Amino acid sequence: MAKSAAGAANITGSTPMSRIFSGVQPTGNLHLGNYLGAIRNFVALQAEYECIYCVVDLHAITVWQDPAELRAQTREVTAAFLAAGIDPKTSIIFNQSQVSAHAELAWLFNCVARLGWLNRMTQFKEKSGKNREAASVGLYVYPNLMAADIMAYKATHVPVGEDQRQHLELTRDIAQKFNNDTGKEVFPIVEPLIFGAATRVMSLRDGSKKMSKSEPSDFSRINITDGPELIAQKIRKARTDSAPVPGPEALTADGLQIAEAHQTERPEAFNLLAIYAALSHQPIAAPLNEFGGSQFSDFKRRLAELAVENLGPIGTEMQRLMADPAYVDSVLADGAARADAQAAPVLAEAKEAIGLLST
Ligand code: AMP
Ligand code: TRP
Repeated sequence: MAKSAAGAANITGSTPMSRIFSGVQPTGNLHLGNYLGAIRNFVALQAEYECIYCVVDLHAITVWQDPAELRAQTREVTAAFLAAGIDPKTSIIFNQSQVSAHAELAWLFNCVARLGWLNRMTQFKEKSGKNREAASVGLYVYPNLMAADIMAYKATHVPVGEDQRQHLELTRDIAQKFNNDTGKEVFPIVEPLIFGAATRVMSLRDGSKKMSKSEPSDFSRINITDGPELIAQKIRKARTDSAPVPGPEALTADGLQIAEAHQTERPEAFNLLAIYAALSHQPIAAPLNEFGGSQFSDFKRRLAELAVENLGPIGTEMQRLMADPAYVDSVLADGAARADAQAAPVLAEAKEAIGLLST
């Protein structure tokens, strides 16, 4: 399984020395998009690679978080990592604020990244909205902190959903400029790992918006912790159109993707089909062949069963883990010590390259 996942990820020219890093924000409502775009891939990669997975609490506070909620959500994302199958012994699981190298290296990168680069970041534009003047400075330099997360471990590959591609390009630019400016090859040039049939899961209510933690309507997403009844109800109510389920005629000539014209015309239908393909570990063509021409009600019933089969055990295990915060905290403490041991020498090397005196 891991082999095929890594194969699908197409880690070209990788060696067992490739190192994986990724992060998830503790901002509530972990959903099917987080699972299919990121967390499930984290699990698959750990069989072959050294993996470091981080609960990025310093990223979360770039917008206001209630302190009690932030604590609870940090434990909840940790529980989701564990429940999904990340092994805290072979991989490292920790929370960002416990390893000071992240914030320190982010400052160095604040002095490398250019205003013009950050001004192009579409996520900042979306998150700051119309009232840009009122956004925190942290939200603006968020991508520099993300680059620091990855570079503190000299990670080579980063599994993420499609929405993070631009931030990883910025990480490459920062690493390159740092190396050029100092004349030292301190940082590697990272590769994104964006793989699976659902790298951009869309809202169940509106196929033009991505499924998101912050969307007010809970019916726009399937949360990892939703029970079977609620999952079935949300899928039943998911927006579609009145035509039958599209079939293989919607595929591109190579049979690997949905042709753009079809995708644009029926985004909600193809979103559900992509979710089905991802959950059943099949290419997108499979559900089109199987359900093309039938009624959405039949397809939705099967999709709900599949979602419950996949998410049910994870939700149950998360509940069990969240009832034991001492255990969850011990996983984070152990992970932080191991992460710190790796990040500290990298930070020292970066400081030395710049000319900062060290002790
Ligand atoms: P976040 O919730 O923003 O911390 O995202 C955590 C991970 O989930 C990142 O790798 C995102 O790219 C991924 N992700 C978030 N939303 C989606 C989505 N709707 N579809 C696919 N991946 C997603
Ligand atoms: N920005 C990412 C998101 O919102 C989270 C993140 C922070 C991250 N640091 C990272 C992802 C480092 C990958 C690597 O989804």
